[in-house]
Amino acid sequence: MALQIGFIGTGGIAGTHLDLLGKMAEAQVVACTDVDADRAAEAAARFAGAASYTDFREMLDAHELDAVYVCVPPHAHGEMELALIERGVHFFVEKPLGNDRETPLRVLEALEGKDIITSVGYMIRYRDNPRRLKEFLADNEPVVARGCWIGGMPGVPWWRRKDQGGGQVNEQSTHIFDLARYLFGEVESVFCTARTGLMTDVEDYTVEDATICTLTFRSGLLCEITSSCAVGMGEVSLEVFARKGRAKLEDAAMKLTVHAGGEMRQYAATENGYAPEDRAFIEAVAGGDASAIESPYADAVRTQMVTCAADESMESGRPVRP
Ligand SMILES: NC(=O)c1ccc[n+]([C@@H]2O[C@H](COP(=O)([O-])OP(=O)(O)OC[C@H]3O[C@@H](n4cnc5c(N)ncnc54)[C@H](O)[C@@H]3O)[C@@H](O)[C@H]2O)c1
Repeated sequence: MALQIGFIGTGGIAGTHLDLLGKMAEAQVVACTDVDADRAAEAAARFAGAASYTDFREMLDAHELDAVYVCVPPHAHGEMELALIERGVHFFVEKPLGNDRETPLRVLEALEGKDIITSVGYMIRYRDNPRRLKEFLADNEPVVARGCWIGGMPGVPWWRRKDQGGGQVNEQSTHIFDLARYLFGEVESVFCTARTGLMTDVEDYTVEDATICTLTFRSGLLCEITSSCAVGMGEVSLEVFARKGRAKLEDAAMKLTVHAGGEMRQYAATENGYAPEDRAFIEAVAGGDASAIESPYADAVRTQMVTCAADESMESGRPVRP
């Protein structure tokens, strides 16, 4: 029998996962929850016999689910993951894990000793080019790096509210912070400064206009990550300078340019990360082997600690340990 799948949160990104799961014979979406009843019903209507709910507890009481996709905004996390753990349900959760340190640490503690498969939506890890860059760096020590997520503001209303989305570092540039961890290892300290007060024309806007974070890795590597959501024409990238050569991942699609040995090589973007990410999770749940999951919950918690440290550093004006 196909795996019985439920959804909590059926907005923008849930649509991407629902599309992909709809094409997988191993998975059957049987229940969708959203606090917006119309959204939940619309998502459920795409799958024959699927039910819709406005309360995730009702959904969990009514169905024996094998796995649940959690696709809610940062401030809504916590109780749903704890309820899934209590019932022994495997789960995929979209990044970020929350907008503070406490929520993911509480969930991580509850996961301890449980046989629950988790996966977090850091989909860049499933693309070919970051993996290719990691291989390039394996015998070519990286020295210094710079990354950025500079552009405009996503349209969802919670994004512009610091108390909900947590700000751009927490919500969006977290992909670059996670990519830096994926490539360079663990972070020792974070120093971050912010610019505010520019976007007076946007209602409810309480996030930073721009930030610059300096990460010091345990290896000694230094990496600067610049973010802005106030810019018309921006850039998304991570560039690394190594002992012998340099390389740059660019665009949300992560095309790669490598300069080494007197040559320049370019690698176009291939399949986006969502399809392999969903395949890895569904196959892990079906087969009981989580080894192909690139971002299990415990790993993503470390990225969350780095972005939280960035926020604390903006407040205190001092370097902070993740
Ligand atoms: N990995 C990626 O590439 C990627 C891309 C887009 C969004 N995301 C992440 O996915 C998350 C959701 O983003 P989105 O763009 O889909 O937002 P969205 O606002 O479009 O959808 C979120 C949905 O969750 C629902 N919701 C909120 N609280 C709920 C609760 N307690 N129970 C049930 N439903 C609830 C909302 O009503 C809404 O329909 C964010 O954390 C975002 O960062 C990841």
